[in-house]
Amino acid sequence: LLDVSRHFFTVEEVKKYIDILAMHKINRFHWHLTDDQGWRIEIRKHPRLTEVGSVRKQTLVGKHEASNNNFDGIPHGGYYTQDEIREIVAYASERFITIVPEIDLPGHMQAALAAYPELGCTGGPYELRCRWGISDEVLCAGNDMVYEFLEDVLDEVMELFPSEYIHIGGDECPKVSWEACPKCQAKIRQLGLKDEGKNSAEHYLQNYVMSRMEKYLNDNGRKMIGWDEILEGGLAPDATVMSWRGTEGGLKAIAEGHDVIFTPNHFCYFDTHQDPAQYRPINRHLPLEKVYSFDPMVEGISEENAHHILGLQGSLWTEWIMEPEYAELMLYPRAFAIAETGWTPKEKKSWPDFERRATALSHVAREWGY
Ligand code: ACM
Ligand code: ZN
Repeated sequence: LLDVSRHFFTVEEVKKYIDILAMHKINRFHWHLTDDQGWRIEIRKHPRLTEVGSVRKQTLVGKHEASNNNFDGIPHGGYYTQDEIREIVAYASERFITIVPEIDLPGHMQAALAAYPELGCTGGPYELRCRWGISDEVLCAGNDMVYEFLEDVLDEVMELFPSEYIHIGGDECPKVSWEACPKCQAKIRQLGLKDEGKNSAEHYLQNYVMSRMEKYLNDNGRKMIGWDEILEGGLAPDATVMSWRGTEGGLKAIAEGHDVIFTPNHFCYFDTHQDPAQYRPINRHLPLEKVYSFDPMVEGISEENAHHILGLQGSLWTEWIMEPEYAELMLYPRAFAIAETGWTPKEKKSWPDFERRATALSHVAREWGY
């Protein structure tokens, strides 16, 4: 995964990223194209998504804490035209890489709300988010216009991306705006949703949104991927789950007969630093050896269920990664460990041998200017 919302990466930078994936036989590129801090994909039917939604006013400097109000005062923006997207999809395809696009919904949508405030519960006004973390402002689930909007967006996404799988997010969607919204509450009553066990009626409303969008993708011959929050309030019928908050979500999804991709944050999130010299405010340490130690055949998964594990993923979130050189420093050699784990039977993996080869490969990469 490459997050191009928090910081934008140019077409040439994305192509270089794809080159390196190809070099390691990594065959999927999960492209996180939209988030609270920037909408990066041109949608012809809704031009304000990029006219307004692609540029934030400024960016938080330093630690992401509520008390930190230190902003850089510099607008940050960028987006890909549909021609550029087609060019990148073709570039990846020539290198046997399928791009799985992500339109994160119904949370992580503040950039879209800034462009089209009528899609939110209060009608706004909204601005693009200039700090990190999770926004309470999400799409209104009780407004039919929102579903029409999402279908329009997915229509153009499906036209651009031949991938069988489309990722529609589903993570980190606070329910406070739905709790206070008459339209969302009317929808809850209309659907007969109730608080049940650990889940509130609003959790079931999120399941309604995800299932409805899954059906739209299925009706168009595509499959849905969502982050592991989609387990809350019941899984959309055929969803593939991307397990990021550890591996529990993946285990639960497999037990329910669903397919899973593992990217547990403690092993696979590359916004963490590899050594203390690479310190950035996220301040979590994830050394190469730990990445290499991850076994996607997670304890508790039986041989007969192993086919539900589609693979593993390294995820590069870019809140603190604004320069392509730093992105590369974060990726390598950890991405090599993801590739080797994905393609090598566990009994053939060897840390000392990998460490030797990863070091050699890092020298080669440096020679090549990576
Ligand atoms: C995620 O890291 N919110 C998927
Ligand atoms: Zn609402």
